[in-house]
Amino acid sequence: MIVKLNSTEYVDSLLHLENLCFDSEAWNKRALKELFESTLAHVFAYIEKEMVVGYLSFFAIADEMQIATVAVHPDFRRKGIASSLIESAEVCAKQNGCTIGELEVNVNNHKAVALYQKMGYKAVGVRKNFYPKDKTFGSKDGYTMIKQL
Ligand SMILES: CC(C)(COP(=O)(O)OP(=O)(O)OC[C@H]1O[C@@H](n2cnc3c(N)ncnc32)[C@H](O)[C@@H]1OP(=O)(O)O)[C@@H](O)C(=O)NCCC(=O)NCCS
Repeated sequence: MIVKLNSTEYVDSLLHLENLCFDSEAWNKRALKELFESTLAHVFAYIEKEMVVGYLSFFAIADEMQIATVAVHPDFRRKGIASSLIESAEVCAKQNGCTIGELEVNVNNHKAVALYQKMGYKAVGVRKNFYPKDKTFGSKDGYTMIKQL
């Protein structure tokens, strides 16, 4: 079940997911809490048996939906959860006046690149040294990917 989160109620679950999925590059609790203080941010969670097994956050800035994070618990991957979260986010973004989806993804994060391509996003450029550390993927470079919503 996908729910839109409007409060910090699940922030510890989001933190747990961040640590599982992003290791040393995970957002901390403060950064996650700040999402709920921003009027531009939108957060969706995928809940299964009362457990948050996936989440997505994006910022709606003018006509752009800027996807910040997509994370799915390792035990729940390849079941279409990230795809469903992106679909829900796109519906919400369109309702908020967005006409274009945009994101950055590490050039070596092949799973995520495949996910975004499947969802219709296309790489339009490479941002050199976009990521501060290259520990996880062996590169600091990120593709900018976009999609007309
Ligand atoms: C990337 C991630 C979000 C995908 O979540 P998911 O719920 O497993 O994705 P889905 O099941 O919706 O997969 C959709 C498509 O993505 C691609 N994909 C997902 N996992 C893949 C993998 N391990 N290898 C290759 N392609 C993959 C496939 O095209 C897949 O479609 P298919 O299953 O019909 O072949 C998840 O692996 C994850 O949380 N990774 C760590 C965090 C991260 O890198 N997030 C993205 C950057 S912010």
